[in-house]
Amino acid sequence: MISNNLKDLTEEDLTSLLQLEDEKKIESLYRQAYEKKVEQVGKKVYFRGIIEFSNHCQKNCLYCGIRRDNNELTRFEMDREEIIKSARWVHNSGYGSLVLQSGEIQGEEFTEYIEGIIRDIKEISKGELGITLSLGEQKKETYRRWFEAGAHRYLLRIETTNPDLYAELHPEDHQFQERLNCLKTLQDIGYQTGTGVMIGLPGQTPADLAADLKFFQRQKIDMIGMGPYVPHSSTPLASGTTGDKIPAKLKEKNLDLSLKMVSLLRILVPDVNIAATTALQALHPLGREKALQAGANILMPVVTPQKYREDYKLYENKPCIDEKAEDCRGCISNRVKSIGEEIAYDEWGDSRRYFRRLGNRSAELRGEIDAENAAG
Ligand code: 5AD
Ligand code: SF4
Repeated sequence: MISNNLKDLTEEDLTSLLQLEDEKKIESLYRQAYEKKVEQVGKKVYFRGIIEFSNHCQKNCLYCGIRRDNNELTRFEMDREEIIKSARWVHNSGYGSLVLQSGEIQGEEFTEYIEGIIRDIKEISKGELGITLSLGEQKKETYRRWFEAGAHRYLLRIETTNPDLYAELHPEDHQFQERLNCLKTLQDIGYQTGTGVMIGLPGQTPADLAADLKFFQRQKIDMIGMGPYVPHSSTPLASGTTGDKIPAKLKEKNLDLSLKMVSLLRILVPDVNIAATTALQALHPLGREKALQAGANILMPVVTPQKYREDYKLYENKPCIDEKAEDCRGCISNRVKSIGEEIAYDEWGDSRRYFRRLGNRSAELRGEIDAENAAG
């Protein structure tokens, strides 16, 4: 079905593969992607415990439940102690890495706050915890300070690579070009850089998604976190269309497209890290397991204290709202075992693509930073 030269799949090939309807062919696509994954990254799943430490956001993305103008939720921010407590829990649980995520907040006070937290996490874990940030668009200087403090991976989704669709989904103060610039800056600084898109957005076509896949390949992205678009009733994009119940047809369509995207990406860019995102589970109880079987190799268990979870709903039906971090640990490891895979405890699980891409340059970059730090 798929030619031998998999990396050469064109946008047209990808567009038609995304529209496959024959169950047997779809299964065969998943199988090929799974084989690629096992060959490249093994049957290992890496964990990143995600701490969603604040739902304050300066932005107003039309699809997002914590957008600035949504006043149907309580805004919160975890203090330093609470964040460190969660980080300690991640470390003691053997997760290997954590992700610090919040809405987009800019300014010196925030930059400094995060800088301090990164250093604290490095200290309490004796440098053992890998730190990924997911804190939106920031100034180059801010990205650099956080990198120097010890964060080494950054997630910034491009959301869609179609500039017109991007403009429709974001208010005017959001610039597509600015998002691209930020991704480039992150790569230049030396972060392992992750991006991703939402899948099944209103107005998005299979050709748009095919272009997204080619973008990930072309831009030499190390990590991908892409997930289905899931409506949130208190957002302009969904209001009046869904209520808080997600239509079955949308669930089916966006799950199917998301799994195909995961598979095609694994085939196209075999050594990239791909997350089985939480949003998949909002559409199907086994959404994340399905993604692991279609080529994904990363899971991001939610570690946010339970009392804040209800207020960090970016989309409707977000799973694990009533669970504590301890519950999630048991649940998620059972999910991995149920599909015959192994959890890579206490490993960072860095992107192989990053090291292949940069070769010795990645080690040099860390060396330069360490030398600068040592010099004072
Ligand atoms: N459905 C799915 N994903 C969403 N995000 C925000 N809102 C939604 C939604 N309604 C995703 C965006 C953002 C990430 C933090 O959450 O892709 O980058
Ligand atoms: Fe804020 Fe991110 Fe949500 Fe946009 S997607 S409103 S930047 S949290």
